[in-house]
Formats: sequence, C-alpha cells, structure tokens
Amino acid sequence: MRNPIDETTIESTRIDEQRQVETPTIAMDGGARTSEVERPSEDLTEVRPLRVRNLKKHFGGVTAVDGASFDVDRSSLTGLIGPNGAGKSTTFDCITGVHRPDAGSVYLYDEEITGLRPYATAERGVVRTFQIARELKEMTVLENMMLAPKNQQGERLWRTILPGSRRKVNQQERELRERAWEMLEFFEIDHLAGEYAGNLSGGQRKLLEMARALLIDPDVLLLDEPFAGVNPVLEEKLLERIHNLSEQGYTFLLVEHDMDLIMNNCERVIVMHQGRVIADDVPKVIMEDEQVIDAYLGANV
Ligand SMILES: Nc1ncnc2c1ncn2[C@@H]1O[C@H](COP(=O)(O)OP(=O)(O)O)[C@@H](O)[C@H]1O
Ligand SMILES: [Mg+2]
Repeated sequence: MRNPIDETTIESTRIDEQRQVETPTIAMDGGARTSEVERPSEDLTEVRPLRVRNLKKHFGGVTAVDGASFDVDRSSLTGLIGPNGAGKSTTFDCITGVHRPDAGSVYLYDEEITGLRPYATAERGVVRTFQIARELKEMTVLENMMLAPKNQQGERLWRTILPGSRRKVNQQERELRERAWEMLEFFEIDHLAGEYAGNLSGGQRKLLEMARALLIDPDVLLLDEPFAGVNPVLEEKLLERIHNLSEQGYTFLLVEHDMDLIMNNCERVIVMHQGRVIADDVPKVIMEDEQVIDAYLGANV
C-alpha cells in the first residue's frame, strides 16, 4: 500500500504569515461526526501528551481537516493513516503551527498550544518532520543540524546566560555541536556531516530531518512519512531506534502508507478519511474495521 509522495503538500508546507489564532477556541463537543470514535474524552485525570479536539482547516473550497479529535498516549508509537488527501499532513501542520486551524484545539499535556507558531510549539516540545524534507541545500549536514536548535534554543540560552558570559555561550555551543554529532551517529549519517545537504539522497534527507527534530529534545514527534525513500535495511534500523526512543519516554505519531509497518509497529492506530477520524483503536481492531476497509477501497489505494 505504499504510495508515491503526493505533491499536494508542497503548498501546505508554507507557513502562515499572520499571527496565529489569538483567542484559542475551546471546542469540547468533538463534533457529531466523530461521535462513533469514543476515545477522546475530557477526563483530565490521565493527561496525555497530545490531545486534538475538533480540529478544522479549509483551503478555499477544500475542507482538509473536518473536525478531527484524537489523543496520543505518552511514550507510545501511534499510527495516523488514511488514504491520500485524508488530511493527515494538514493535521500535522495545524498541530505544529505551520497552518493556523480554522477551529478546534490542540493541547500538549494540560497546556493549550493551538495556533502557536512552529518555533513556539517546538519550544514547548512538539516537533514534526515533513513529507517532503526541508533541508537547506546550500548548507552542510552539520550546519543544518546547528541551525534548527539555534533558532529554537537561542531564547532559552539567553535567558539562562548572564550578559558578557561568553565562556558559557561557547560551552553551550560546544555541547550543542556534540549532541548534533551524536544524533548524526545515531542515524548513521555522521560520515555525511561535511556534505552539502543538497547532495543527499531522499532517504538521507529524511534521516537528517529526524536527527534535527530530535536535537531539540521534544516530548512529541510527528513524523510525516519518514521512511519514504529510505532503503529497507535502514528502515528497519530506524524503526528500532524509534521504539528505543519511545521506551525512553518520547511520544511518536507516525504517518505512513505501508500498512504492514503500521500494524506491526504501532500500539494504536488513528484512521482519517475526508478530514475526519473514522477509527481509533489497536491495530487488530483497525484491520477489521469495515469503515476503514471501505475508506481505502473507495480511495482505490
Ligand atoms: N496548502 C493547501 N492548499 C490547498 N489545498 C490543500 C493544501 N494543503 C492540503 N490541501 C488539500 O487538503 C486535503 C488534505 O491534504 P493532506 O493533508 O495533504 O492529506 P494527506 O496528508 O492525508 O494526504 C487534500 O485535498 C489536499 O489537496
Ligand atoms: Mg500527507
């Protein structure tokens, strides 16, 4: 069921210019259409790292996300699947502030992060990778690695550093560089550190994106088709690493077309179709869900 990368998301990766939603709308109804999917609840006794409520996003006449609600468990690997155009990438865009949702809410633990810009969501602990990797081609792999956290950690750095304390800045930079190297080693692209990112293969770009995302040490990672273009041996290694990281407490939401991969690796699977969540359950149940089967057959995937 592996699909070619659809080009439609190139447009969707453009960051909204304006300031995001000013007054967060708290939509607790979840929408009548999602009522058959029972899991999302407002019971805060067990606060999950990521909760999405009644998320909506239109592009002109196209409804990309149409009232999606779901939860992601801590320290888990959750799948987000659905036929092409189901609204998966747009959901990621809305969670991480690439796009401003028209309605709905996103919570990181008990903090509402709806409408925050990408740097702000990253600072709070949610990062994503893109279906089409977004590295800076004119920079080396290592420079790309050093860039993202500098933007995102810069503020945090300055807050903790006394003015004029250059030694500490240098030390922080050194530590960052060391972590960048470790991450490149972890993803086995350290030998490419000096290579221009523009010369990497599709699979290597995906690894660079994931390494960069992890460098800021997020709580939640949203991976948009991270295995596209990655060879099977590396895919296996990457999966092992993701499992390893999730055991350490990282939370993953994974968009992936390869159904076997999803079913064999994810603890839970959320299924989107036409912008809505049509199923949310353990793989065994999802595989036999008639609505899910119909959605895929109908979409001719
Ligand atoms: N920036 C955009 N402008 C217009 N339409 C878009 C944009 N981004 C996504 N769409 C449309 O929204 C729908 C959902 O797309 P997307 O979220 O990319 O789906 P998926 O990732 O599940 O394949 C599709 O019909 C797509 O064409
Ligand atoms: Mg997509």
